Amino acid sequence: MSKKILITGAAGFIGSHVARLFVIKYPDYKIYNLDKLTYAGNLENLKDIENSPNYQFIKGDIVDASFINNLFETERFDAVIHLAAESHVDRSITNPLEFVYTNVIGTVNLLNAAKNIWKDDFSNKRFYHVSTDEVYGALGAEGLFTEDTSYDPHSPYSASKASSDHFVRAYHDTYGLPIVISNCSNNYGPNHFPEKLIPLCIYNIKNNKPLPVYGDGKYTRDWLYVIDHAIAIDLVFHSGKNGDTYNIGGFNEWQNIDLVKTLCKLMDIKLGREIGTSEKLITFVKDRPGHDLRYAIDATKINKELGFYPSVTFEQGLEKTVDWYLSNDEWLSNVTSGNYQKYYQEQYN
Ligand code: NAD
Ligand code: DAU
Repeated sequence: MSKKILITGAAGFIGSHVARLFVIKYPDYKIYNLDKLTYAGNLENLKDIENSPNYQFIKGDIVDASFINNLFETERFDAVIHLAAESHVDRSITNPLEFVYTNVIGTVNLLNAAKNIWKDDFSNKRFYHVSTDEVYGALGAEGLFTEDTSYDPHSPYSASKASSDHFVRAYHDTYGLPIVISNCSNNYGPNHFPEKLIPLCIYNIKNNKPLPVYGDGKYTRDWLYVIDHAIAIDLVFHSGKNGDTYNIGGFNEWQNIDLVKTLCKLMDIKLGREIGTSEKLITFVKDRPGHDLRYAIDATKINKELGFYPSVTFEQGLEKTVDWYLSNDEWLSNVTSGNYQKYYQEQYN
């Protein structure tokens, strides 16, 4: 195998799509998936590639420095694509420390381990940190986040991701570690854990449960189909400039309320319900504290330098997503019943 690549968090939503793309597209790379299997990590996401000769799963916690150091010493990875994180803003509001441990300390542990094994020769090595547009804070009605926008995080989640981004750049500037960072907007698609907006609404519409819309629903996000994010990560990993940052976006802004209504209509059609049935489930609920009004990405740099543009429209991506959830009942019920977590406890403890 020509390259040993560690992907952290590849049992999660985005990581599983990145791992699949790399395992299939690059048979001469050996892909290692390091994941703690938290509530968000699910090896069912990778069933189709789990027996591939160039794929290996390693269960472990990036917060455990001695485990990480030993792993890097033993495996001598050539590159890291770091996605492991606590990723849910709402959970960060109730338990900020967990976000500091995984997102900040876990990232620094990986940086240290990479620096230690690569320090004699940084050539052909790369530490790729996958981050979020939330580090830039909130926009008003106008404007876009560029790579030069100052950081202004508001939630414990975005503060922890901002901190990890700063550490990654500090290791580049101080030690010369070869790094690249990307900051992406909201992803959606298959395997999305159903506590985030789109999969939660799909699940609730299917089960005739209320659709909780925070505040007045006028909050705005830019949405990118997860497989397009994986394609962008492939481009940045292979062709992004050392030390650089790339914003990744979908050119696709939606107010939450309009998005939920669009989803309701699509689900009514898919479920053979009268149009307007699911919209009645919309329920305005208490707002998220510190809720950022609007995120919007200027993705000109990655478009111009690396030729990235989303391959599907939002309508196409949303339909693929709904179809996937409607035909993957078992995945959904395992995730929502917590069966897979019981399985992991029995399997690994
Ligand atoms: P996710 O929550 O679905 O998956 C995170 C994965 O990390 C899980 O498999 C989990 O088990 C693993 N993990 C958590 N803590 C760990 C630890 N201590 N050690 C090892 N593994 C651990 O997240 P996601 O939505 O796939 O996001 C992946 C990355 O992309 C994150 O870094 C996130 O900040 C970033 N991101 C996400 C989005 C989005 O819309 N979801 C957008 C931009 C950037
Ligand atoms: O912008 C990128 C970020 O997108 C990623 O860094 C995060 O990891 C990812 O979770 C996502 O964060 P958000 O907070 O934007 O995602 P979420 O799906 O939780 O919420 C999307 C919007 O919908 C947000 O404005 C809050 C709102 N919302 C969310 C939920 C779960 C609701 O109105 N009701 C809900 O029940």
